[in-house]
Amino acid sequence: MPSCAMLALLFSLGLFGLALAHAGDDAHDHADLHAREYPQFPLTPPYRPLVWSDFNVIHTTDTHGWLLGHQKASFPEPDYSGDLGDFSSFVAHMKQIAIEKDVDLLLVDSGDLHDGTGLSDGFPPGGVDAHESNKFLERLPYDVMSIGNHELYIYANTYDMYTNFVPHLNGRYLSSNVNITVFGADGEAESVPVGGEWLSLFS
Ligand SMILES: *[C@@H]1O[C@H](CO)[C@@H](O)[C@H](O)[C@H]1NC(C)=O
Repeated sequence: MPSCAMLALLFSLGLFGLALAHAGDDAHDHADLHAREYPQFPLTPPYRPLVWSDFNVIHTTDTHGWLLGHQKASFPEPDYSGDLGDFSSFVAHMKQIAIEKDVDLLLVDSGDLHDGTGLSDGFPPGGVDAHESNKFLERLPYDVMSIGNHELYIYANTYDMYTNFVPHLNGRYLSSNVNITVFGADGEAESVPVGGEWLSLFS
């Protein structure tokens, strides 16, 4: 379930949107006060059936907190009209089809989970960037994730990933040449890899 902090954040974003709409042109028809209708732009239809192989991959990257989709008019962004719930449903259906076809389907992400929207970057004083939005991503059945550069700019972000997010992947959150300095069990500072190690994938 979304935490109270996330719900509070969603609520305050909603109020902010209303305030902006009222501050605008009085002749505005207030269409944006109503629920967003999807899709808002024409979507490009698939040009051929999806081809399945023995080994298949669904790959996300640079989601940057866009849990509500990424609606802009420029190609290919109208195709990004789904929100995280749509994506979760898509993945569940695809995994089921993979089981029926008896083929492999890996869900992979290559990082940069935040720095993009208020859902990830808006947090109360004392909070950490993406700590709340990551809780939604944890619920998707990712097989492998890797770190992105945006997870590395601020120590508190990296530490939060290392402490609270990486353990959910159970050795399948990968990083290469990326260490973080933490206090070890003996109280001494030690430099350790942020992610799991490749070898743990195969053991
Ligand atoms: C990174 O962590 C590994 C494992 O703890 C360690 O062997 C290595 O020396 C560290 N690298 C740096 C540059 O500190």
